[in-house]
Amino acid sequence: MAALYAQELQIFYNASSLQVALNQFRAQKKTIGFVPTMGALHNGHLFLVEKCAQVCDITIVSIFVNPTQFNDKGDFERYPRNNESDLAILENSSCNMVYLPTVSELYPNGIDQILDFDIPHITSILEGKHRPGFLQGVVTVVMSLFENVKPTHAFFGLKDYQQYLMVKGASAHYNKGVEVVGLETQRNQGGLALSSRNQLLTQEERVKAEVLYAQMNALKQHKGDDNLNQLLAAAFNEINNAGLKAEYFELRNPETLNNVEQWTKNENYLVLCAAKLGNVRLMDNLLI
Ligand code: PAJ
Repeated sequence: MAALYAQELQIFYNASSLQVALNQFRAQKKTIGFVPTMGALHNGHLFLVEKCAQVCDITIVSIFVNPTQFNDKGDFERYPRNNESDLAILENSSCNMVYLPTVSELYPNGIDQILDFDIPHITSILEGKHRPGFLQGVVTVVMSLFENVKPTHAFFGLKDYQQYLMVKGASAHYNKGVEVVGLETQRNQGGLALSSRNQLLTQEERVKAEVLYAQMNALKQHKGDDNLNQLLAAAFNEINNAGLKAEYFELRNPETLNNVEQWTKNENYLVLCAAKLGNVRLMDNLLI
């Protein structure tokens, strides 16, 4: 809350100095909210920051492009990095503290030490299937970040739905004592989910990419119809016809992520999709 902590944005490069700054707030039993990011900040990130500041007394954002969650080296190298403009954005937000850790700070035993936490039916499908090692890399870095920041609450976007489920599961499994909160996906006017990778698209490509949201909504219009598999296949084809390369377009149970064979008009479902546009990989989901 700005009123409690109306100070300039503070920047920390290591956990020990961050903890010194946080000790006074812990002593006062203040809540410490945390928003982990890989930077190249956009309004989706800022939405998490502002929600965090509404719920918690202190808001901390981390920026770290995590090498272990990229199964594609080119994707890691191309990933946008704009620390200076990110800091300028955070200066004008409700963020109080920024944590900019190094690789050795988060991986004291080296980047080969990946946690073996697994939720088999989540890591073997969708993102887990198409990006081997991605979810394990995320869990490893987020648990290390939790260890260094020791937040009371942490905020994640539901756009990265499997990431959210894995982090929530791992946080409970490793007894981190962090309340993991999932928040809804922020989109541009055309429905394209905001993403750091959108910076790598031309304006024309961003318009093309709107097909993902359009097709998820098209499925919603047919909710409960008895030709589900045909509808899913048609959406997959429409994504390819728009000039993207679809990886998956699936309907799942929102809680378990189990596949849906039969659907009705009255239950909730999650549509999840991913596609490549050139070498930029996009993913999205919609609760219908
Ligand atoms: P990054 O892609 O930078 O996203 C940071 C957080 O912002 C994640 O929780 C993500 O789900 C959320 N987010 C991204 N786009 C959003 C949107 N359009 N609307 C709402 N929230 C959105 O996700 C990661 O980084 C990394 O995997 C990380 C968790 C930091 C671990 O390295």
